[in-house]
Amino acid sequence: MLHYVLITCLGLFWLAWSRAVPPGHVVHETRLLSHPQLSRRMHPDTLLPMRIGLKHNKDALANAERWLMEVSHPHSPKYGQFWTQETIIDVFRPSDAAVKAVARWLTSSGIAKHRITHSDNKGWLAFDATVQEVESLLHTEYFHDGQRRASVGCNQYHVPSRIQQHIDYITPGVKGQDKNSNDELANCDQVITPACVRALYNFDTADPTAPLNPNNSLGIFEEGDFYTQADLDLFFSNHTSYIPNGTHPTLNSIDGGLAPNNWTDFPGSESELDFALAYPIVYPQNITLFQTDDMYYAQRDASKSGWFNTFFDAIDGSYCTYSAWGETGNDPSLDPIYPDLRNGTASDQDIYAGPLMCGVYKPTNVISISYGVFEMDLPAYYQKRQCDELLKLALQGVSVVQASGDTGVGAGGYEDCLRDNDVFTPTALNSCPWITNVGGTTIETGNTVYDPEVAVNNPWQDYSSSGGFSNIFPIPDYQASAVAHYFKHHDPPYPYYHDGNWNQTTTHNRTKLLPVEKKQKGIYNRNGRGIPDVAANGDKIAVWWYGEPSLSGGTSASCPIFASLLNRIVEERLKVGKGPIGFVNPALYAYPEVLNDITNGSNPGCGTDGFRAVEGWDPVTGLGTPDYARMLGLFLSLP
Ligand SMILES: *[C@@H]1O[C@H](CO)[C@@H](O)[C@H](O)[C@H]1NC(C)=O
Ligand SMILES: *[C@@H]1O[C@H](CO)[C@@H](O)[C@H](O)[C@H]1NC(C)=O
Ligand SMILES: *[C@@H]1O[C@H](CO)[C@@H](O)[C@H](O)[C@H]1NC(C)=O
Ligand SMILES: *[C@@H]1O[C@H](CO)[C@@H](O)[C@H](O)[C@H]1NC(C)=O
Ligand SMILES: *[C@@H]1O[C@H](CO)[C@@H](O)[C@H](O)[C@H]1NC(C)=O
Ligand SMILES: *[C@@H]1O[C@H](CO)[C@@H](O)[C@H](O)[C@H]1NC(C)=O
Ligand SMILES: *[C@@H]1O[C@H](CO)[C@@H](O)[C@H](O)[C@H]1NC(C)=O
Ligand SMILES: *[C@@H]1O[C@H](CO)[C@@H](O)[C@H](O)[C@H]1NC(C)=O
Ligand SMILES: *[C@@H]1O[C@H](CO)[C@@H](O)[C@H](O)[C@H]1NC(C)=O
Repeated sequence: MLHYVLITCLGLFWLAWSRAVPPGHVVHETRLLSHPQLSRRMHPDTLLPMRIGLKHNKDALANAERWLMEVSHPHSPKYGQFWTQETIIDVFRPSDAAVKAVARWLTSSGIAKHRITHSDNKGWLAFDATVQEVESLLHTEYFHDGQRRASVGCNQYHVPSRIQQHIDYITPGVKGQDKNSNDELANCDQVITPACVRALYNFDTADPTAPLNPNNSLGIFEEGDFYTQADLDLFFSNHTSYIPNGTHPTLNSIDGGLAPNNWTDFPGSESELDFALAYPIVYPQNITLFQTDDMYYAQRDASKSGWFNTFFDAIDGSYCTYSAWGETGNDPSLDPIYPDLRNGTASDQDIYAGPLMCGVYKPTNVISISYGVFEMDLPAYYQKRQCDELLKLALQGVSVVQASGDTGVGAGGYEDCLRDNDVFTPTALNSCPWITNVGGTTIETGNTVYDPEVAVNNPWQDYSSSGGFSNIFPIPDYQASAVAHYFKHHDPPYPYYHDGNWNQTTTHNRTKLLPVEKKQKGIYNRNGRGIPDVAANGDKIAVWWYGEPSLSGGTSASCPIFASLLNRIVEERLKVGKGPIGFVNPALYAYPEVLNDITNGSNPGCGTDGFRAVEGWDPVTGLGTPDYARMLGLFLSLP
């Protein structure tokens, strides 16, 4: 739910010089289509982050398809024995001789050895160099487009013929016009585009000609926040030319919730973010938008409205009257009540005077929810009743995916615990064990999509990936060994308590109420359900908002990425006559190798450094980020 604008400023200097290409050099890449915007020469002193992509080991590539079939074909004896990331790096790494030859060329051209780094995945040599240095190295001239988000490139460049065989391509260099070109990946550490997400999580755009199952539309929940078609169209035309203008979700309006909005009606950044991530992944599959509540309720302070209750009512009629934990139907002090005869904030259209909508929509196979509150915002009985509902949805084969939150171990701001500043604050409904929580990761500046991501921690925004341990729900069986492994090998340095018991029974007052466990002096519940389960990128995401390109982020982005990939997997299963995948946590905890373990970063909050991302499950990034190909292999192998 974050929103900020990237400002990359390059001076508008002009300097003309040309240079003869010495013998022994060959053209390595040439731009096929001219790029009229790249017309301004770059200042010779501007620093460029240079990346030389080295060719993979030839023998490995020749065998790669056979290896893949060995681990993914159901009749193979090695089925499911996926490779570790270390083995992949090792087998595919370029030969030492190749790395040495390219490095020697750089050092003999004046790029000192200490300036050159070899990426963790061994596929890249990286160094920063001035335009002047690079132009002399590659015998070329660099241009930029004078835009705020500057594009930088040359029309062709040269390398010595003796090392050409070792080099895939060099960035920044010839910016391709082809949307699938690897050049699109050069700036993923600055702007996450759909191409970056595909490279990160190992999948391609869906086959536009494959038959689609009409029963598999991705569900997205929104409340009090609206998409605008004009911004979606700008996003599509700038990032995903394969998605036509006008593509939009099917509206399942709940109790007066309406979308889209025009710019004049204050569209929200959350909806734009959700669709900017989901459409590029699932298209041409449809998206179903569950837009909840009339404006009177939708705009009410999140901590005062019950959240999700009217949504559950609408997709499960029995929830309207279901009794559990001392509550039946909607809670008069917490939930929106319909018909709503109170006039709204702006016009009569803001109110929904119809009856409460009960069981009017069928839940989709996968539902993405980038909204949430904190456990201490709501009474425990209320959360338990909602959690039962999630269990019932899971039993029907619905996968509910939720953003873990953007506040680290705290409740908003690095310093804020909202509980006398001394106890970590788990997010809700996240702590319900029957939901899949998605934490946030980022590509560190200077890294490529092929380097391991780290847990997101963005101090300007007070933003880090929410995680921790519930004070309401105990550790579920499917998670027990992962959490035990974490405590055994990476015990966090904080005092803790057991049987955390958030048992508030009246309407909340966060500053006044203290958890039962406070007297025990711990700050987290050692045997609570761990959050999150998995993670995905949630930082520096390209979106369009009010007609302008900008950057957005939050686990709000991570959630639709993960949910969209699950929806793609469901589609593949439907094609072979299998059913949806339902609650995925037991499968993911049983086969964590289908995820990329995140082992760096932390989630500060509550005046502490938070927890650390480590090997295995951790309360920052869970089991890690998706590898679509591996996840698909796993779920296709299951009955
Ligand atoms: C997607 O939605 C559109 C518009 O509602 C509909 O015409 C189309 O049939 C849907 N596609 C599938 C595969 O259900
Ligand atoms: C979609 O769901 C309906 C109702 O469950 C079912 O009758 C139909 O066969 C399904 N269609 C496909 C293509 O699976
Ligand atoms: C799609 O919509 C955008 C934004 O309105 C516009 O700039 C673009 O030209 C449109 N593309 C097509 C193919 O109509
Ligand atoms: C966005 O797309 C529009 C229409 O395709 C194009 O005119 C414009 O230059 C693009 N803007 C950026 C920043 O890519
Ligand atoms: C948005 O503007 C269009 C064109 O001006 C109009 O037809 C439409 O009714 C407006 N939508 C809303 C939700 O106000
Ligand atoms: C809502 O507005 C209408 C028309 O302005 C008015 O007649 C009615 O009394 C109002 N209802 C409430 C509950 O304020
Ligand atoms: C929570 O509080 C209620 C009402 O005070 C009480 O009946 C119940 O036993 C408590 N539950 C736990 C687990 O302490
Ligand atoms: C919550 O408690 C604080 C501290 O006791 C008090 O100042 C505040 O007025 C209370 N707020 C509400 C809404 O009761
Ligand atoms: C972890 O990230 C920090 C910066 O956030 C970086 O300095 C460090 O090298 C990284 N460590 C590993 C093992 O990747």
